[in-house]
Amino acid sequence: MAEYKLEVTTGNVTNAGTLDHIHVILIGTKGKSERTELDNFGVDFKTGTTGIYTVKTSLSLGKLLLIKVEKDALFFLPEDEWYCSKIVVTTPEGDVILFPCYRWISRGELVELRGGRAMKVFEDDHPLLIEHREKELILKKSLYHGAELMFKGLVGSTEQWENIEDLKKIFWSKKTPVSEYVTEHWKEDDFYGFQFLNSINPNVIKRCSELPPNFPVTEETVKPFLEKGSSLQKEMEKGNIFLCDFKRMDGLPAKAYDGESPRVTAGLCLFYINPENKLLPVAIQLHQTPSEENPIFLPSDSETDWLLAKIFIKNADFMQHQSVYHFMNTHYLAEVFTVATLRSFPVIHPLYKLLVPHVRYTLQINTMARKSIFAPAGILSRSSLGYDGMTELMRRAFSELTYSSLCLPDNITARGLESIPNFYYRDDGLKLWNIINSFVKAVVEYYYPSDSEVCKDTELQEWISEIFTHGFLGNKASECPACFNTVEEVIKFITMVIFTVTGQHAAVNNGQFDYHSWAPNGSLLLRKPPPTTKGQSSMKTILETLPNVGQTVSFAAMAWILSDMYTDVVPLGTYPEERFDESAPKQIIKEFQAELSCLSKAITERNSQLEVPYTYLNPAQMENSITI
Ligand code: FE2
Repeated sequence: MAEYKLEVTTGNVTNAGTLDHIHVILIGTKGKSERTELDNFGVDFKTGTTGIYTVKTSLSLGKLLLIKVEKDALFFLPEDEWYCSKIVVTTPEGDVILFPCYRWISRGELVELRGGRAMKVFEDDHPLLIEHREKELILKKSLYHGAELMFKGLVGSTEQWENIEDLKKIFWSKKTPVSEYVTEHWKEDDFYGFQFLNSINPNVIKRCSELPPNFPVTEETVKPFLEKGSSLQKEMEKGNIFLCDFKRMDGLPAKAYDGESPRVTAGLCLFYINPENKLLPVAIQLHQTPSEENPIFLPSDSETDWLLAKIFIKNADFMQHQSVYHFMNTHYLAEVFTVATLRSFPVIHPLYKLLVPHVRYTLQINTMARKSIFAPAGILSRSSLGYDGMTELMRRAFSELTYSSLCLPDNITARGLESIPNFYYRDDGLKLWNIINSFVKAVVEYYYPSDSEVCKDTELQEWISEIFTHGFLGNKASECPACFNTVEEVIKFITMVIFTVTGQHAAVNNGQFDYHSWAPNGSLLLRKPPPTTKGQSSMKTILETLPNVGQTVSFAAMAWILSDMYTDVVPLGTYPEERFDESAPKQIIKEFQAELSCLSKAITERNSQLEVPYTYLNPAQMENSITI
C-alpha cells in the first residue's frame, strides 16, 4: 500500500469555495490511482483554506505526471464553480511536488494539472506529457483567437466656464498634492517645460541640434530668452535646446465643432535649458508650414497669446499621449504579449510561469476600454480629433513604431536625453529597466544555458513569431525580432515586455488625474480654432477655447477613473500565485524584490527633496500588469 498526501488550497477570492464533490486521479509513470473523492469530515473547499487528503494506491505510481481533477454536482444544486489555487503532493518516496492551478473549475470540465519543475518543449520525454502539452496548446489556441461621477450635478452641462477659478468647483471630492500644485502653477513656463520630462508624456521631447527648416526661429527673436551674450546656435552646440515636433498630426481629420473649422494643430515647441537647469519654452509655431497666419509665438507676447499657444501644444500632446503612448504602446501591445503568451506556452513552460503574472486582467481592461474609452462613442471620441482622427493618428504612429523605441535605454539615447538635468522619468526608468533586466537574465539563463536551447524551443519561437506577425504586422522596419537566435535576444525582449506592462504603463497612466484633471493644463478638446494673429486674445478667448462645463467634467472623470487602482492590486515583483516549484527561480524572485525595495526607498527619499515629486516609477506604487 502506498499513500499520497494532498494539500489542496482553495483561493482567497470571492465565492472561491464550493460545496460540490471533488474527485482526483493521480497519474504516474507506473500507473494511476483510483478515482478518489476528496472528502474530510465537515465542509471542504472553503474560500481561503487548505485541506489535507490522502489518496491510497496498492503500489507506488512511479514518477508523478498529472493530477486529473473532476467536479460533480452536489444533489441537484446549480453550478457552484471552484477556484483552486494549488495542490501540493507528498509522495510515498517523500518528494514534495507543487501542482499550480489558479483557475476556476466548472462541472464536467477536463482539468489535468502538471506539477514539478518548469519544462521546455524538448525536455518532455514521457508520451503522456507530450500528448498533454499538445492538447493544452490546441485548447488555448481555440480560446484565444483572435462613470460618470458625482460632480455636483455638472455632468452634461453645456455652459461655458465663467472664469478659471470656477473650474476648481469640480474637485470637491478628489484632489492630489500634484493636482493642487497644477491648479496654482499651470501658467508658469518652467512648470510647463518640466511636464514634458516628468508628467505623463515624457515620450516626445528630444534634443535639437538643428532647427527643422519649416520652423524659422531667428536668433533675434529668441535672444531675449537665452543667457545674456549667448545665441541659439551656441546653445544648440552646447546641447541646451530641445524640441517637441507634432508633425505626425499634420492634416489629420478633425471633428468640426459648432460648424467651425477644425482645431487640431501639428505644432512645434522649442525649449531651452537655462543655467538654473530649468526647461523653458521659448518659441511655439502651431502649424507645420510657416506663413503669416502661422506666427511664431514667444514668451514676450501678451500673456493670453502665449497661454493660448501653450494650450494648443498641450492639446496635441495630450491626444497623442492617450492614443499612441498610452493605449497603443502599452495597452494594445500588452494585449499582443498576453495573447501570444496564452496561445503559445503550456502552463508548465518556464516563460509562461515568468510572464503570466504580468498579463493579469489585461484582456479584461482592454475589452472595457474598447467599449467606453477608445470607441466611436467613447470618451476619447469627444476629443478635438474625434474617433477617426485618433485612429488615423495611431495608424501613423504604428507604422513608425520600432522595437528600440520600446527599450528605454535605446529610446533615451536616440532622443539625446542622456544628460538633461532633472529628468526623473529617465533616472528612475533606467534603474527600473536594469533591475527587471537582471531578474529576467537570471531566470532565462537558468532555463536556457545555451543559445541552442533557445533555437530548438519551438514554443518560444512560435511566441515571438506571433508577436512579430500579429503585433507588428510583420513589419521588418520595426526591427522587432521574428525569431530568437540567442539567449541575449530573449532576455532583452522579455525585459522590454515586463518593463512596458509595468513601468512604462505606470509612467503614462498613473498621473492622469494629477496633471489632466485641470483642463487649462491639458485638454483633449479645444472648442475654438488656434490663433492666427497676435494681439487679439483675452482671458475670454481662453474660456471660449477650453471645453465647456460638462465636457470638462467628463474628461476629469476619465482621468480619475484611469488613475485609480483596484483594491486587489498586485504591486510589481509580487507573485501571490506560486507557479515555480524549484528553488532557483524562487530565490531569483526574492533578489528581484529586494532590489525593487531599495529603488523604492531611494525614490521616496529623492522625492522628499522635490517641489513636485515624481512617483510614477516607484516600484511600490506600480502594478505587476496593466489592469487599468
Ligand atoms: Fe492604462
